[in-house]
Amino acid sequence: MKYIKLRELEVSRIGLGAMGMSHGYTDSGTDEAESIRTLHRALELGVTFIDTAEIYGPYTNEELLGRALKGRRDQVVLASKFGMISHAGAGPWNLDSSPANIRTAVEGSLKRLGTDHIDLYYQHRVDPNTPIEETAGAVAELVAEGKVRAFGLSEAGPDTIRRAHAVHPVTAVQSEYSLWTRGLEERVRPVLRELNIGLVPFAPLGHGFLTGKIRSTDDFKEGDFRYGNPRFTGENFQRNLRLADEVQAIAAEAGATPAQVALAWLLAQGDDIAPIPGTKRVHRVEENTAADGIELTAEQLDKLSSLPPAAGETHTEAGRQMLER
Ligand SMILES: NC(=O)c1ccc[n+]([C@@H]2O[C@H](COP(=O)([O-])OP(=O)(O)OC[C@H]3O[C@@H](n4cnc5c(N)ncnc54)[C@H](OP(=O)(O)O)[C@@H]3O)[C@@H](O)[C@H]2O)c1
Repeated sequence: MKYIKLRELEVSRIGLGAMGMSHGYTDSGTDEAESIRTLHRALELGVTFIDTAEIYGPYTNEELLGRALKGRRDQVVLASKFGMISHAGAGPWNLDSSPANIRTAVEGSLKRLGTDHIDLYYQHRVDPNTPIEETAGAVAELVAEGKVRAFGLSEAGPDTIRRAHAVHPVTAVQSEYSLWTRGLEERVRPVLRELNIGLVPFAPLGHGFLTGKIRSTDDFKEGDFRYGNPRFTGENFQRNLRLADEVQAIAAEAGATPAQVALAWLLAQGDDIAPIPGTKRVHRVEENTAADGIELTAEQLDKLSSLPPAAGETHTEAGRQMLER
């Protein structure tokens, strides 16, 4: 495993997204023992960068990590997120990045994670009701108190990134970025490069789609992120299958799996990028972390970069409204 720096924070080149162990997919939360084995195997393989959020569950994903990382806390760069739960009463899925809400959120996350500090603490979505300067100021206080080491944003647009960074350095922006979701390349990426802010692509496997393993959407249950998602519905889904086939063809040529190709393409986009593929299975964490060693040719990278755009938006309308691009 190689390691890179997101600004001052050293992380494994490939991290592990823990969300799906508890939340977001049809079979999330069904096998805690395998999830814990997956986390431990990831650490053995040199993965140090583990991603969660208070909204995952809510709460149960952080609790799972607290149990799994007992006695191993020092081996990981632990990232969590605030701002998707309003602790003032409105509850989950209500944006609140006010300083008072962040204070409450961090205490809960620290307790659940069983730690006295979070290495990278992201605002999960930009809160239109709280100036980003106030949010950044609140995180800066947590940094000064030692409860947080570094500040991150998620799905923030260029202006918000600049304003936040002017108050407290932003270490990383975590946003959706993969072969079929490239919207941040034009406006966000140049700002990250200019300000020396790392990029953490979430859903680097396109919520599993780019692995080629999803050929039908029939089994997605309500509550699965992909259920009713425009890219995983009807004609869009059928058209997108061709994209997955292209990735599969390049994988066959490269002697790799499609998941590894999707990750290797991301790694080739810069050494300031640390994707966090999500899995709750040991054999897949082994497969995904091995992408670090896959070298694609210039021609293969070109082909992948020239794939046609995905059919359909990344999110349903409600989810889309929370994105700032
Ligand atoms: N900031 C945000 O707003 C945000 C949003 C979404 C996610 N995230 C973070 O990003 C992480 C990753 O995103 P994600 O989980 O949404 O999407 P992803 O990493 O693109 O894909 C995960 C899905 O792919 C499957 N999968 C993983 N490796 C595979 C392989 N080698 N072959 C076949 N299938 C494979 C997983 O199933 P199994 O688990 O069954 O293997 C899961 O269903 C999350 O865990 C979370 O920490 C952040």
